[in-house]
Amino acid sequence: MSVHKEIKKVTTNVLHEMKLRGEKIAMLTAYDYTMAKILDSAGIDVILVGDSASNVMAGHETTLPITLDQMIYHAGSVVRGSKRALVVIDLPFGSYQGNSKEALTSAIRIMKESGAHAVKMEGGREIKDSVERILTAGIPVMGHLGLTPQSIYKFGTYEVRAKKGDEAERLLEDASLLEQYGCFALVLEKIPATLAKEVAKSISIPVIGIGAGVGVDGQVLVTHDMLGMTHEFSPRFLRRYLNLYESMGTAFEQYIKDVKSCDFPSDKEQY
Ligand code: KIV
Repeated sequence: MSVHKEIKKVTTNVLHEMKLRGEKIAMLTAYDYTMAKILDSAGIDVILVGDSASNVMAGHETTLPITLDQMIYHAGSVVRGSKRALVVIDLPFGSYQGNSKEALTSAIRIMKESGAHAVKMEGGREIKDSVERILTAGIPVMGHLGLTPQSIYKFGTYEVRAKKGDEAERLLEDASLLEQYGCFALVLEKIPATLAKEVAKSISIPVIGIGAGVGVDGQVLVTHDMLGMTHEFSPRFLRRYLNLYESMGTAFEQYIKDVKSCDFPSDKEQY
């Protein structure tokens, strides 16, 4: 692994410049200090403290149960592990949908208590007031359209979104509106690659895709999925770079054997 000695911090402006010169943005999730440190040393551009922590870290079926306090705990750990990457935190379900004042209060708590650099929110025109109010406090906002997991009970499924004309048209309009409201970047989740490419071309802010094809300005995956720590979940867009579920399982089995057989600790592993 190459260690990046010279630290030029990634900012929202850096991401904008990357889009202008056609350099792709690499984003991955982290929820803890150790993972953030490894990602940051590897040279990741953006670390997302996603509300996917609700599934990956806490074992919930959806992203809905995770609380603002829990997100702040994860966010603080990630910030302490990052020197270079831009750290973006998801505003969790229920912390911003009520009204723009609630959204601002939640965003301020995240920034103050975790030291993060930006927040991410799901939704289009319906979050206009909240995006604008959060921006008045100087907090950068990343948008999120397409499959928005906080609305899973409205959609009813995790299928590809915006395959039909009406929904695709609305998504294009919402992307443009989010840019107008002042979002610095946009995540597009699980939509047709042709539509995602059209969105990325039609707006000047960076568009980061997950299951949205190669024609966007960057990619994001859930780190535990791309490392193969999770194994029940295999959507088409997921490239697994390791099979940690298996290799960790093998290591744990070996440890258990070694303890039970008194092979561990050896003479050299004791005082
Ligand atoms: O919560 C999350 O991890 C996300 C990514 C999948 C974009 O929102």
